[in-house]
Amino acid sequence: MARIVGSELIEDARQRGRIVFEILPGDIVTDVARETAERIGLRLVEGPLEKPQSVRSDGNTAMRRQLYKRSARWVAPRSAPAMKASRFAKIALIGAGGVGGNVAHLAALADMADEIILIDIAPGLAAATALDLNHMSGITGARTRCTGAEDLSMVAGADVVVVTAGRARAPGMTRADLINTNARVIRSAAEAITSSAPNAVVIVITNPLDEMTFEMLRATQFPRERVLGMAGTLDSSRFRHALAKAAGVTPADVSAITLGSHGEEMAPITSLARIKGRRLERFLTDDQIEACVKDAVTGGGQVVALKKSGSATIAPAHSTIELLNHMRGATSGSVPVSVLLEGEYGISGVVVGVPAHLGRSGLIEVEKLRLSQDETQALHAAADAIRNRLGLST
Ligand code: 2OP
Repeated sequence: MARIVGSELIEDARQRGRIVFEILPGDIVTDVARETAERIGLRLVEGPLEKPQSVRSDGNTAMRRQLYKRSARWVAPRSAPAMKASRFAKIALIGAGGVGGNVAHLAALADMADEIILIDIAPGLAAATALDLNHMSGITGARTRCTGAEDLSMVAGADVVVVTAGRARAPGMTRADLINTNARVIRSAAEAITSSAPNAVVIVITNPLDEMTFEMLRATQFPRERVLGMAGTLDSSRFRHALAKAAGVTPADVSAITLGSHGEEMAPITSLARIKGRRLERFLTDDQIEACVKDAVTGGGQVVALKKSGSATIAPAHSTIELLNHMRGATSGSVPVSVLLEGEYGISGVVVGVPAHLGRSGLIEVEKLRLSQDETQALHAAADAIRNRLGLST
């Protein structure tokens, strides 16, 4: 998994008494993080560092040692060590279709909430899915209670509301074709959230993603910190998959993110992408990189074309869980998310996908990455296109 090392991680390490910080192959270290490290006296060293011989051992440790010996040049970084993750009291899902159902499944498996409410206007669908999920608890032992409902007021008191409701694309449609239909769905969800869950963080998944996140902000009047759009985690995962496949490595060997819009103006960030800690050009030709970019941009459409009806569900659900994990502190670092920009990257007044730090109350801060000139332009082009589709003045 891509680890973006920002100033927060650096400060946290220093506060815990560390004087050396290990940069693993594939890590993206922001300029601010480097400056912070210098300022507070934390030395950044290229890893993986040789670990001291441990006296006690077990099967897993022995196997890792063997792997280290066999491939001295590259060891896929372990995902960032789990911090103390908090638990949500209540997650509400508006929309219990493919994405909502899978989010509930993964969240219940991870036992990350006391209660998950699934809400869907399709009679019986949410109740059936909730019951099905509860039936798995005899095996998983998860404590999460799932409940299904048809009434939006059931969002009451939720810490997080995940909105997937709305029409999905049919083959040949762009996400932008859904703008008017789904804006109405978002507005009715917003009404219920504002009156029944006024302190919730809202994660929007309904398409067109950036526009619907903006619509949710406008309709709830919530601060930007509490309205997030899920797309960058999904698009980044698709991009990493494409790069790994093209280079013949496993996705764990790849770190890469995409920013910009969740659509035609997606901006896969090739300048910061790494395969086994090295620049893409070490493994792939320009044409291959271009094909991977295209694969990421068209990934959702490829699934729609194959399915004929409905869009992707599994990867979007995992991508939502990644945001929830960042919020509850199960994962550290920054993560791509669509948020209203207030001057970051020179963009204001529109929702665009950028890297950001998240916490229990939503957005903590937008991470400033050093992008290439082309990538900065792509981000601006995405912002202009989203503004245009929303009818906002520039
Ligand atoms: C996708 O890209 C559903 O927009 C979502 O698959």
